[in-house]
Amino acid sequence: MLKQIKSDIYHLMHPKMAFFLTSIAKDGKPNVMACAWATPVSEEPPIVIVCVEKSAYTAELIKETREFAINIPNKKLLKAIWICGKTSGRDTDKFLKAKLKQRMANSLKVPLIAECVGYIECKLYKTVDAGECYAFFGNVLYAEADDAFFKKGMRTEAAEIPLHLGGSRIMYFRGDNAKED
Ligand SMILES: Cc1cc2nc3c(=O)[nH]c(=O)nc-3n(C[C@H](O)[C@H](O)[C@H](O)COP(=O)(O)O)c2cc1C
Repeated sequence: MLKQIKSDIYHLMHPKMAFFLTSIAKDGKPNVMACAWATPVSEEPPIVIVCVEKSAYTAELIKETREFAINIPNKKLLKAIWICGKTSGRDTDKFLKAKLKQRMANSLKVPLIAECVGYIECKLYKTVDAGECYAFFGNVLYAEADDAFFKKGMRTEAAEIPLHLGGSRIMYFRGDNAKED
């Protein structure tokens, strides 16, 4: 029986990959938050969107310095995802709290998270006001992935990327039932 859904409609569009979204302040201090609302929107040129609550510190930083990076974790970083998704960089050094190592990006001032398995570096070119969020459109300047987890740019079963179902529920992409026809 079909039942109308009035709240949390977004759950119907999950699971979505949970990743770390890194950003940086003008004074060079970086931040990281957990994020799941994101999508590619163009392949040529490569453009992605990340959706960030207006009240998040990350939103302030992306507007200020116009850069962000998508850092793709695997299962080992689950605890860090929750820390970065439940605390704010306004009052917490989340790299320290979540024990995440930073490394330099190829084309941005924004740092990357060394323990991740894939990265997409973006320059902000457009911001859309969308309800409680900003949809940040980023031109992809550089992307890379660990070939132990991504073959020809596609995930292998070893990747075990966390997929957010909503609330505090996570499942993992294993790829072993993702067969070609
Ligand atoms: C798995 C997961 C996914 C999340 N996805 C988003 C998201 O897509 N957009 C968003 O604005 N907040 C999302 N959050 C919440 C932010 O990570 C959270 O508000 C964070 O404290 C913001 O940090 P900041 O103030 O340092 O920017 C998510 C949290 C978790 C745990």
